[in-house]
Amino acid sequence: MSSVTVRVPAKVNVQLSVGPLREDGYHDLVNVFHAVSIFDEVVAKESESITVTVEGNWADRVPLDDENLAIQAARALAKHAGRTYGVALVIKKAIPVAGGMAGGSADAAGALVACNELWGLGLPFEDLMEIAGDLGSDVPFSMLGGTAVGIGRGEQLSELPTGGQFHWVFAVAEGGLSTATVYAECDRLRAATSAEIPWPQLSDPLLEALGSGDARKLGAYLTNDLQPAALKLRPQLAHTLEAGREHGALGAIVSGSGPTCAFLATDAAHADQLATALSTTNVTRTAIPAHGPVPGAVVV
Ligand code: C5P
Repeated sequence: MSSVTVRVPAKVNVQLSVGPLREDGYHDLVNVFHAVSIFDEVVAKESESITVTVEGNWADRVPLDDENLAIQAARALAKHAGRTYGVALVIKKAIPVAGGMAGGSADAAGALVACNELWGLGLPFEDLMEIAGDLGSDVPFSMLGGTAVGIGRGEQLSELPTGGQFHWVFAVAEGGLSTATVYAECDRLRAATSAEIPWPQLSDPLLEALGSGDARKLGAYLTNDLQPAALKLRPQLAHTLEAGREHGALGAIVSGSGPTCAFLATDAAHADQLATALSTTNVTRTAIPAHGPVPGAVVV
């Protein structure tokens, strides 16, 4: 086999509950991930060494050095297999970069699945999930897709049933936000109040809304504990969320650590209308309609 292509989805968090800061610098979460139909493609081609190039939207914003999670994924897999392997990775980007939609994690998941195939390792999914969890908290979900709750750092996943498709619009912001910076801002905002930080709990009404496929209910129960921090760092996102609500979004929320904003629509036609309406306002240049849940990393 000389080339393998893997398609990997973006995610939105429909519940992101953040517990107190742990000693290891992470936070215990209840993180309900939902995979949506904005996809990166990771192509793995035979090569002497491990390299990466990036094409497509926002390609110039992706690091090509050791910071690149797809490179880290290929190296981690080669190490796990105990051999020296090479691969030329080509990432075709559609997921916003540093946008709170797990774009980097998607590319890492894509690289794991593609290199496992290209190098003929035949490692089972569970082994790839272990490596994924070491690469980043969101990488296991990018492998799995669908809708799932993540506890611990967000990497310990259980699948959740959904009663149908949900239709979304994602408003892409100028520039990205660093996940670590947003968590640190969340800690700072919390430290400024004396309120106790509750232990994160999975929301029952949210589970019901997902299970019934009722978009109106889901819209009412979307929550993100990182949203106040993202809004503090990017106050203009409040206008983006407001514009979506004015155009009839059933729910409006910052996606993960942001700055992408997610809007829940009533159906596919409403998502198209909402995307068109948002892209003619001055709150975003790019509004992308998408649906979920969709599968995780798959060879195409
Ligand atoms: O796991 P990942 O490398 O994606 O995390 C990036 C950063 O996000 C971490 O360094 C940490 O600051 C923050 N984070 C956290 N708690 C989590 C997940 C991520 O504080 N559960």
